[in-house]
Amino acid sequence: MSLNESSAWWEREDLSYHNGELYFAGRSVKNLAYQFGSPSFVYSFDRVKANLHRLHTCLNATDLAGRFTILFAMKANRFPPLLANLKQIQLCGIDACSPNEVELAVSCGFNPKDISFTAGSLSEKDFLTLSRYDGLFFDCDSLHSIHNWGKLKPGTEIGIRINPGMGISRASNEKLQYSGNRVTKFGIYQEQFAEALNVAKEYDLTVSKIHFHTGCGYLTPQLDYWESILESCQWFISRCKNLSRVNIGGGLGVPHTSTDKPLDLNKWASILNKHFGASQLHIEVEPGDYILKDAGLLLLGITYIEQKKDKLFLGLDAGFNIAPEPAFYNLPFQPVCLDVSNGGFTSYNIAGNINEALDIWYEDVRLPNMRDQKHLALINAGAYSSSMASNHCMRGSFKEFLLI
Ligand SMILES: Cc1ncc(COP(=O)(O)O)c(C=O)c1O
Repeated sequence: MSLNESSAWWEREDLSYHNGELYFAGRSVKNLAYQFGSPSFVYSFDRVKANLHRLHTCLNATDLAGRFTILFAMKANRFPPLLANLKQIQLCGIDACSPNEVELAVSCGFNPKDISFTAGSLSEKDFLTLSRYDGLFFDCDSLHSIHNWGKLKPGTEIGIRINPGMGISRASNEKLQYSGNRVTKFGIYQEQFAEALNVAKEYDLTVSKIHFHTGCGYLTPQLDYWESILESCQWFISRCKNLSRVNIGGGLGVPHTSTDKPLDLNKWASILNKHFGASQLHIEVEPGDYILKDAGLLLLGITYIEQKKDKLFLGLDAGFNIAPEPAFYNLPFQPVCLDVSNGGFTSYNIAGNINEALDIWYEDVRLPNMRDQKHLALINAGAYSSSMASNHCMRGSFKEFLLI
């Protein structure tokens, strides 16, 4: 990394220092920041492709080869140039969670039959809009959904989103769990499943898919528990006579700190193979984070550096509202210096420009002397950042660039 500090935990082939200068996707990040200005999100399409290829390779090495589909959870990032390019490479379909997402995916070239829809609390207008997309696959997450979809599309195939009462997440972070000890709004529990199948029958709906997404950000230490979730879902699977698909959701995580290790994807695929390899079922996986998160940087301008008591604050020209995950979910986004050649490492508290107490990007991060630097980058900003941004304090503007 520099003369004084050893190489950083997040460095990899396409994101690393060369002669003290940070390069991302073959570009000098300093030049990108100079050219694009800040705040700007930059996404590497090569990294997106590499993440998708890695998933395909691992699954193709199992008995699931030719019997799986990757659906990109577009709630993670809906930048239209990204979606249009994803369509071109044909390595994934789309997991959509609102009628507007379906419309955007279609406008970027995806055929409705490549889109799987899973969401809750749908209004009459939502059902109507969705029903007009022929081929769109609809997962019902409540009895309410089965009734409403059944009225509009009797005799069709549906999925049922189930809630196995077990949840998973990075480092047991309960905020990232979609099912578990706490009763959640997601999916149909065991005790209502028989009723759900009966309601489907009422409308002559064939339940051909079981769907579950139980949480986000899981890494290798969570894989044993993830396996027990797969086992518990067999209870639902075994009760569906006409099942052809199982959607295991997303949730595959990427490292956020020096102590996180990349998910052991071979182990993940072998667990999936153990439970579904011998079946005839088609497996769907719908990751957002795993495909996009580490493919994005957020470039921010440095506004000031000032000592307050024993803390050295470094201010940036954007706050938590344009990349809310660190504030909402305690997921740290590592600040990264664009030029480490000056050395002189010290600890900084990185602050945003929003008048909220939680608007601290990172506490006590070691960076070189930043006095003559103009920009800083945050890594892992490719997913759930721009897509979750708000205009709080009227500080919601940013630019986005796809590096091809
Ligand atoms: C139903 C569903 N599928 C997939 C995802 C993608 O999750 P992740 O980005 O953690 O892979 C989500 C995210 O919350 C989701 O709600």
